[in-house]
Amino acid sequence: MVVSDKAGGSLGRRRLNALGLTVALVACASAWSGQAANPTVSSRQATMKAIAGQMKQASGFATGQTAWDPVKVKALMTAVAANAKKSKDLFPAKSASDPDSSATPATWEHRADVLKRFDELAKLSLAAGGAKTQQDFRAQLTPLGGTCKGCHDTYRKKPA
Ligand code: HEC
Repeated sequence: MVVSDKAGGSLGRRRLNALGLTVALVACASAWSGQAANPTVSSRQATMKAIAGQMKQASGFATGQTAWDPVKVKALMTAVAANAKKSKDLFPAKSASDPDSSATPATWEHRADVLKRFDELAKLSLAAGGAKTQQDFRAQLTPLGGTCKGCHDTYRKKPA
C-alpha cells in the first residue's frame, strides 16, 4: 500500500476521491505482479504510477466527472510537476540494464532528451494547475497527456 500513499502525495489520503482510490488500488495490484528488486527501478515505477493516478484524477476534473475545484486542481498539478522533477533523478545510468525495467535502451543513449521531456511535463503541469475554468483545464490537459505518450513511444517498452 506504499504506492497508494505516494499516489496521494501532498494531497493526502483524505482527498483521494472514489476514482483516485480505485486507481491507487489498481496500481497496487500491478505492483504486486512485478515489483522490481532494484530500488531505483521500483521507485521509478512507483513514481510513474503515482503520476498516472494523479492524471486519472485530473481527467475527472477535466471531464466534469469530479466537481470543478481550482484549488484541488492546482494541488494535483503541483504534485504531478513534483513527480516529474523527481523522475529526473530516477534514471541513473547504473540502472540501465536492469531486467525489471521497461525503459528502452534509447533511454540511456538519449538521457538528456528524457530529462528535457520531464522538464516539459513539469512546466505544462504547473501551467495547467493555474487553469481558472474546467474548459481551460481540459484544453491544457490534452497536450500534457501527449508528453506521456511522446516519451513512452520511444523510451518505454510496450507493456506485454
Ligand atoms: C520523459 C519520459 C516519460 C514521461 C514524460 C512519462 N513517462 Fe511514464 N514511463 C517512462 C519510462 C521510461 C517508463 C518505464 C520505467 C521502467 O520500467 O524503468 C515509464 C513507465 C510508466 C508506467 C508504468 C510504471 C510501472 O509500473 O512499471 C506508467 C503507469 C507511466 N509511465 C505513466 C505515465 C504518465 C501518466 C505520464 C504522463 C503524465 C508519463 N508516464 C510520462 C517514461 C516517461
